[in-house]
Amino acid sequence: MKSCYNIEDFRAVARRRLPRMIFDYLDGGSDDEVTLRANRTGFGKYQLMPRVLRDVENIDLATTVLGQEVDLPLLISPTGQTRMFHHGGEMAVARAAARAGTIYSLSSVSSTSIEDTAAASPDPKWFQIYVWRDRGVTKEFIARCRDSGYHALCLTVDLSTHGNRERDLRNRLSFPATLNLKTVTDVLRHPRWLYHYLTGSRIEIANVVNSPRVQLPDSGNLMEYVASQFDPTVTWEDAAWMIDQWGGPFLIKGITSPEDARRAVDIGASGIIISNHGGRQLDTSPPAIEMLPEIVRAVAGRAEILIDGGVRRGTDVIKALALGAQAVMIGRPYLYALAAGGEAGVERMFDLFRAEITRDMALLGCPKISDITAEYIR
Ligand SMILES: Cc1cc2nc3c(=O)[nH]c(=O)nc-3n(C[C@H](O)[C@H](O)[C@H](O)COP(=O)(O)O)c2cc1C
Repeated sequence: MKSCYNIEDFRAVARRRLPRMIFDYLDGGSDDEVTLRANRTGFGKYQLMPRVLRDVENIDLATTVLGQEVDLPLLISPTGQTRMFHHGGEMAVARAAARAGTIYSLSSVSSTSIEDTAAASPDPKWFQIYVWRDRGVTKEFIARCRDSGYHALCLTVDLSTHGNRERDLRNRLSFPATLNLKTVTDVLRHPRWLYHYLTGSRIEIANVVNSPRVQLPDSGNLMEYVASQFDPTVTWEDAAWMIDQWGGPFLIKGITSPEDARRAVDIGASGIIISNHGGRQLDTSPPAIEMLPEIVRAVAGRAEILIDGGVRRGTDVIKALALGAQAVMIGRPYLYALAAGGEAGVERMFDLFRAEITRDMALLGCPKISDITAEYIR
């Protein structure tokens, strides 16, 4: 892991450490993976414009997101079933994020519960909501997050049905992961992963595992599970109801259109996460970085705007801030780092991002986050 100097290096180690079906679940996108690739190339369409002969001895990465102070403008996006990638799971990432001075978001379909994750590190966290057909589950999530001290809720709206992830179908990935003729050789080639998988507690959807309201996945594929359990009838009225029930900071994640961004603000969302789910849902939908300028204009300062998808470098973070984002979020980068080196891997990933952002701000001539404006990007 010491020889990992960027996210691509972590990805290469993760690829070696994980069974193919697990790595592909982490790494892959939907259909032809057009959006997955565009999330990376989108950043390449912008150039940073350095300004010189300025005092850049002291660089300060601190900023605020929805009223919370963070030590760097890089937050953790929610990802489900994190213990599949490393036995340290959600708790390891939450602790590393807290040490880096930033916000951890827990997924509805996490493999560690709302309560256990809250106990792992005292820092305020966000919780991401998927809506099960029984709306009582959502009500319970809201109450449990309030009791466990979560700072904000985030409703993901781009999963009305599951994206078509053909790598998972080809690998016969089931949920929970089980061994079959196709996967057994794959798994046996990764004894360290297998050891932890067999000796650790069963990987489940920890937030609903004891709930009579939901049916748990039964080793089928994830697409079928989502279709049978998640509610495809969720509308703006339901989102408004959740905002009202929660009464605190509330984000809507998975917005790509300026019209929807405006609507999210109209119903009271305090933040918007421009996201295409890391290219895992509607293929050929646009990268967040390319929609950012239009959405910034549409929202006109009435809510904070975050983006995720394809952020791999300090310069990506700076480009997003220059185009008007309050902060950026990452999914795969921390999962690669976790798979490569557990909690220490995620810690190293934060160190590398921090060093890159600091160096890039110095080279750009911007010592503070608030200095980074549209004049630095073309
Ligand atoms: C393995 C994996 C699982 C994910 N699970 C969730 C989830 O449970 N809820 C959610 O809102 N987004 C989920 N996402 C999407 C991420 O929150 C985020 O939008 C995406 O990973 C950002 O793109 P990036 O991976 O290029 O950084 C998942 C992404 C990955 C890679």
